Amino acid sequence: MNRTTNNIRQDFLNFFKDKKHIIVPSSSLVPYNDSSLLFTNAGMNQFKEIFLNEKKINYSRVATVQRCLRTGGKHNDLENVGYTSRHHTFFEMLGNFSFNDYFKKEAIEYAWELLTSKKWFNIPVHKLWVSVYQEDDETYKIWKNIIKIPIKQIIKIGDKNNVQYNSDNFWQMGDSGPCGPCTEIFYDYEDNLKPNPEDFLNNKNNRFIEIWNIVFIEFNRISRNNIISLKNKSIDTGMGLERIASILQNVFSNYHIDIFQKLKEHISQLSQVHDLNHISLQVISDHIRSCAYIIADDITPSNEHRGYVLKRIIRRALRHCHKIGMKKNCFHQLVATVIKVMGDSGVILKQKQKKIEDILRSEEKQFSYTLEKGLKILNSEIKKTNNNILSGKTAFYLYDTFGFPIDLTADVCREKNIQIDYNAYKLQQYKQKTQSNINKKFYKNYNNIIVNATCHFEGYKKNKTKSLVKQIVINHKSVSKANKNEYSIIFLNKTPFYPESGGQIGDTGELYNKTCYFVVENTKKYGDSIGHIGKLISGTLETNTHINTQIHQLNRTAIQLNHSATHLLHSALRNIFGQYVCQKGSLVTHTHLRFDFSYQNPIEIFQIQQIEHMINKYIRQNVLITTQMLSLEEAKKKQAIALFENQYSSIVRAVIMKDISIELCSGTHAKRTGDIGIFKIISYSSIASGIKRIEAVTGHEAINYLHKKDNYITDLSLTLHCNQSDIKDKIENLQNKIKYIENKITKLQKRENQNYITQLLKNSYDLKGIKLIIHIFHKYEHKLLRIITDELKQKSKQTITILINVKNNRFTIVIGVTKNLFNYITAIKIMKMISERTHAKGGGKKEIAEGGGIYTEKLSIILKNMPLWLDQQLYQT
Ligand code: ALA
Repeated sequence: MNRTTNNIRQDFLNFFKDKKHIIVPSSSLVPYNDSSLLFTNAGMNQFKEIFLNEKKINYSRVATVQRCLRTGGKHNDLENVGYTSRHHTFFEMLGNFSFNDYFKKEAIEYAWELLTSKKWFNIPVHKLWVSVYQEDDETYKIWKNIIKIPIKQIIKIGDKNNVQYNSDNFWQMGDSGPCGPCTEIFYDYEDNLKPNPEDFLNNKNNRFIEIWNIVFIEFNRISRNNIISLKNKSIDTGMGLERIASILQNVFSNYHIDIFQKLKEHISQLSQVHDLNHISLQVISDHIRSCAYIIADDITPSNEHRGYVLKRIIRRALRHCHKIGMKKNCFHQLVATVIKVMGDSGVILKQKQKKIEDILRSEEKQFSYTLEKGLKILNSEIKKTNNNILSGKTAFYLYDTFGFPIDLTADVCREKNIQIDYNAYKLQQYKQKTQSNINKKFYKNYNNIIVNATCHFEGYKKNKTKSLVKQIVINHKSVSKANKNEYSIIFLNKTPFYPESGGQIGDTGELYNKTCYFVVENTKKYGDSIGHIGKLISGTLETNTHINTQIHQLNRTAIQLNHSATHLLHSALRNIFGQYVCQKGSLVTHTHLRFDFSYQNPIEIFQIQQIEHMINKYIRQNVLITTQMLSLEEAKKKQAIALFENQYSSIVRAVIMKDISIELCSGTHAKRTGDIGIFKIISYSSIASGIKRIEAVTGHEAINYLHKKDNYITDLSLTLHCNQSDIKDKIENLQNKIKYIENKITKLQKRENQNYITQLLKNSYDLKGIKLIIHIFHKYEHKLLRIITDELKQKSKQTITILINVKNNRFTIVIGVTKNLFNYITAIKIMKMISERTHAKGGGKKEIAEGGGIYTEKLSIILKNMPLWLDQQLYQT
């Protein structure tokens, strides 16, 4: 029976566990602290600092299963996905790593054993070929003499265009970072009884596929033309899980392994396509995995950076869903199947399932309208082309008006053998950017405009309305219509959009009718009116026409939870710290809430927990949240919290949470306190004298926050190999162990030093009563040279010591001279002489000097002549 992908993943880890590797969890798709990478693209990313010797860890052998994304930057596979058998946006990389531990021979032996041994993957030897970097004879010999692969199956790969290291067998993480020559193992899909290297180089029909890359990390690329050697030599390997699964499951394409078969079956059930080899099924099954994992790593779709990559993948997938007649709003349903098929790697998705589904559902809803419209236009433009080139203007129009990422348009064009005029597309993009910067200036400066329309706010009860456009303002002036791409402020007779006030941010959403589509980016109050600020992205919008309004409901709901939670917080603070606690500022957004208040004393952690307990109790009480219009008098009688009294008219709106809270407020709120779900404080601080700030999250965001913490603890316990409750003990034990070992090492070193000292004194030169000690150590600790020098000087009164340590072609040196010789010779003088002749760097004082440089024959000659030179200094000056 074939192994499942889940088993293969586990077998890989078990194999390396047996070889004394620590299993480290996958890091996030968002690289930590590394601006050179958009997404994690290889298992080695999380270890970059260790390879560069910038960070130390306690273990030197590690294995991981790393989630990776290659859609942007150096490794970009998006446009191939779906059209080849083995490209993915998201994939899992199996990797073993050695940090200054084993090197080429063992790395190759491990890979070979796992792939070929009967106990493990049992792949016949004649099916495997390897490539090595042209210059790397050592690796070539390991394959030939130790592993004993037929030499015809070992292929040397050199540099392209004669540029050093520009080779398929020289791996680099990106434009900078750790890199080195590599050797790759390939699988031959044909039965190759007479190996012929020509076949390998032609690779007809993708007969050979690379399965494992073993990189010998020896260099650090600083920039394009600057590459330096690393002190430590390390191993970085990567094997695509999906590829090895395709081999072990006896299928040609990655898309035929168990994971993708099950995903494609589900997609086919939701669509009208039943051929599981259909390209769209491949694309969708690939993209749903990346979408799920990107969102699980806390990226949301947006118009820039990582968020835009996510948006592009979602939209590309949705276009294929549309193409195969998939039912509307079904894309998110695939998440449950992804979780199932991913086995052990699906756990992280399970924790965030609802969030992932909500985001995908909302993206699909938002895009479906423009997708259909845009496709119609694209198809008709394609029909019109006579040179098989789609104009850059059309591609840009689709991007700008219908939100078609360029790769979506390219994907449609590719199916019809049409090229896109990319240069013209880029030019349009550039032009718009310049225009939008001008618009943005205006956008910030919209305060003193004259508005004559009044607007009825209906957003307490409704999230959409049919409204009349009363006024359009562009650049401070009322105009009768807005044109495409212009930022403007739209005033309506009624609206569900809440205008920014009382700390609650303005709503976002859309205004649309048959002829236009307007995106509302913010909503603000202008006297009695409400301005919808944003950009017209298609058609024209005129005054006195009717328009549909629709707020972003997901955002609004999240805002409401945070607003109701703010009232609960206010009430809890007064209960715990006293009624004189007074609000000094507040911000309520869809992601979090921020509350500033007056309180003189420091806040302790137990009080923070007390606040959380109290608020979560209010939440569990699940009381109804109601509103009442009251006269100011009545409100005062009911002891409503009224914050800015002078802002309220004689009739005020009170938000009442039974006997927990009554507060004057015009904001929008949850229906019951239970809707908030959970309340968690994420930070507290003092922002000015006597003013404290609390930031908190609720609902979904709170769960996400807790999950992040949970994952962190789980990672820690996995790394430390212990239960979560034992982490503290484990760390204390480790610290004690380190102390114990350090003491032991110091003792041993002392003993070792004594041996050396006796030896060195025995072998010293005698320069007419003055002792000269010269010794070269290999791979010794530099600081020990200093200790030995001091001890030698104490033991023997008229002494010159020259101690050298050689490590990886470099040397360091410590020179000591006893005081009574200063009239004739000093340590710094000896150092200077050596520096001048060897180009070493060094410095110091009369009694001790230190330095270092590249170790060459020259130094040996100088040392050999040292007695003579010193003799001259001592007796002939
Ligand atoms: N870092 C190497 C790769 O990604 C193993 O291929």
